[in-house]
Amino acid sequence: MPFPAVRLRRTRRTPALRRMVRETELAASDLILPLFVCPGEGVADPVASMPGVCRQSVDRLVATAAEAHGEGIPAVLLFGIPEHKDAFGSSSWSDDGVVQRALRALKQQVPELLTVVDVCFCEYTDHGHCGVLREDGGVDNDATLANLGKQSVSLAAAGADVIAPSDMMDGRVGAIRGALDAAGHQQVPILSYAAKFASAFYGPFRDAADSAPSFGDRRSYQMDPGNAREALREVSLDAVEGADILMVKPALPYLDVLSAMRRRFRQPLAAYHVSGEYAMLRAGAANGWIDYDRALMESLLSIRRAGADLIVTYGARDAARLLRQGWEP
Ligand code: PBG
Repeated sequence: MPFPAVRLRRTRRTPALRRMVRETELAASDLILPLFVCPGEGVADPVASMPGVCRQSVDRLVATAAEAHGEGIPAVLLFGIPEHKDAFGSSSWSDDGVVQRALRALKQQVPELLTVVDVCFCEYTDHGHCGVLREDGGVDNDATLANLGKQSVSLAAAGADVIAPSDMMDGRVGAIRGALDAAGHQQVPILSYAAKFASAFYGPFRDAADSAPSFGDRRSYQMDPGNAREALREVSLDAVEGADILMVKPALPYLDVLSAMRRRFRQPLAAYHVSGEYAMLRAGAANGWIDYDRALMESLLSIRRAGADLIVTYGARDAARLLRQGWEP
């Protein structure tokens, strides 16, 4: 006979009671802020579909990163918009590449900030796919692995603290681990985009990074949105290949996958609250239909509740500000 003996409203009566029984906490120290670095100087070019997000030249990016670090954000995730694109994405492993330059500047000017780098080719290839193409237009898995190794070693040499491959080639975590170790970067961890789905929610990112495929789509390498069991196989393989942190992407549409990962794996888990998830909150708020602050925080808290230790989000600085102001659900 639960009721009337049991009344769950009792522990919701006051803020102090609610605080005491709250199961999930959000902290700025769990958040990773994505940043887009482009060529030039003094450039801060707003991304129309992502209010508050800019593509920035190295000087401006360093200033933004320093501010974010001062606000309690421990890490940034870097994406590059290069000067030149070619069929292989070779500017991604150039010592003088845009991300490599950003890394050296960040290491010099904000040495305490953790630098996570996205490792992929879609921003660097003229066809916009995430690897080397075969004659028939498909992505050549094994030829791409060698290039992922080159890109990762080049980024680690430039000062990357964490390597985050997002290409979804089979065997890439093992290949990257091998390449990093052979080059003396045994200490550099891999955060793998282990279960990355072929998602409509990447739309605004592709505007920001100028990385939409020029033909076809990514369904032959990114995952089918219907597949949760296959996602766990993807995650297991990355774990076996030596991934140090396992990520699911996007976040909110795949909380079931995240929750299943939490039950099965002991590794730290991350989730990527992607561009489309952020853009929807901004668009809703711009129309006066949704409270951006509250909806952002509820989204991030839900991602934590489902099992993520770390969250990559474009709203990281807003969340840090709200937490500083004493935000509670
Ligand atoms: C690919 C990459 C993408 C994102 C992160 N890394 C785009 C894609 O796979 O098309 C998307 C992130 C976002 O939408 O915020 N290198």
